[in-house]
Amino acid sequence: MPRVFSGIQPSGELHIGNYLGAVVNWVALQFQHECIYCIVDLHAITQPYDTATLAPRTLEMAVGLLAAGLDPSRCTLFVQSHVPQHAELMWLLNTVTPLGELERMTQFKDKSARQESVPAGLLNYPILQAADILLYKADRVPVGEDQLQHLELSREIARRWNTRFGVETFPEPQPMLSPTRKILGLDGQAKMSKSLGNTIGLLDSPEEIWAKLRPAMTDPARKTRKDPGNPEICNIFTIHRAFSTGEQVTHVDAQCRSAGWGCLDCKRLLADNMIAALAPVRERAAELRARPERVREVLGDGAAHCRALAEATLVEARQVMGLQAP
Ligand code: TYM
Repeated sequence: MPRVFSGIQPSGELHIGNYLGAVVNWVALQFQHECIYCIVDLHAITQPYDTATLAPRTLEMAVGLLAAGLDPSRCTLFVQSHVPQHAELMWLLNTVTPLGELERMTQFKDKSARQESVPAGLLNYPILQAADILLYKADRVPVGEDQLQHLELSREIARRWNTRFGVETFPEPQPMLSPTRKILGLDGQAKMSKSLGNTIGLLDSPEEIWAKLRPAMTDPARKTRKDPGNPEICNIFTIHRAFSTGEQVTHVDAQCRSAGWGCLDCKRLLADNMIAALAPVRERAAELRARPERVREVLGDGAAHCRALAEATLVEARQVMGLQAP
């Protein structure tokens, strides 16, 4: 069975951007693949953060992922810092990663531009991501579009390693994109992201969903109710495709182009569908929050399983590099 690996930061909430871009695929893949999913707290600490809330947010991310459909009997879910081999392999990979490749990463450029003093961890972030994937020799990595550049670097690191040491230690991981590989935020401008405050949370209440959706950006050409719109450039329409039936999507398309519906009519249908689709997720999250010991048990089992897999790869990697066996 092909092995799948992917990760998500606990710094942000689970929102419909990372849900549709990645997590929907994570859930689907657990039925045909060996899947390993990781909450990447070591990545989250490369940006300013609150130490007091990191652990609770990590647990809350686990609650969200399990509520969204990850099934611990079909996949492995764990926290990155609970498997120390990630940091060790990262160090080894550091030695084959060219500095220039790291400096040209667009996420590094964006994030470093927003910080006065740039920590080395922000630059080395993609090496840790490569270590995450290569540690498990993963074949496939389901991600949203914004992670493709990091994935390409992981492939490059695997190639350089294999060439440098003359052994095929690491397979080159292939990205897997969902049909909704890029969800824009409610401002219709940048990608949906917690740090930009333009999200709809997966666990938001029906009232919150409507309050956020109502003022969301649509086709700017629709200045008045009578102006026809172009659904192809409307972010709300993209989200409709994920939550509405084929018939509804066709109807919305026609109503937008003919100005039969105003944007609010379109958003109301979307809100109703979204609220209905996410109700069971919210319910499961409430049940899980009431049993944090069960969530900790899932993460504990996941880390134990991953430590064993990771150590086997590290034994091989240390040997290939000529490090002395203990
Ligand atoms: P993160 O935490 O930013 O996002 C988690 C996943 O969600 C996808 N995503 C989106 N997709 C579509 N539209 C959006 N608006 C949107 N926002 C987020 C991301 O592409 C990602 O797949 N560096 C990674 C975490 C990571 C990782 C890994 C991923 C660490 N190690 C190894 C894969 C493999 C990150 O910050 O994702």
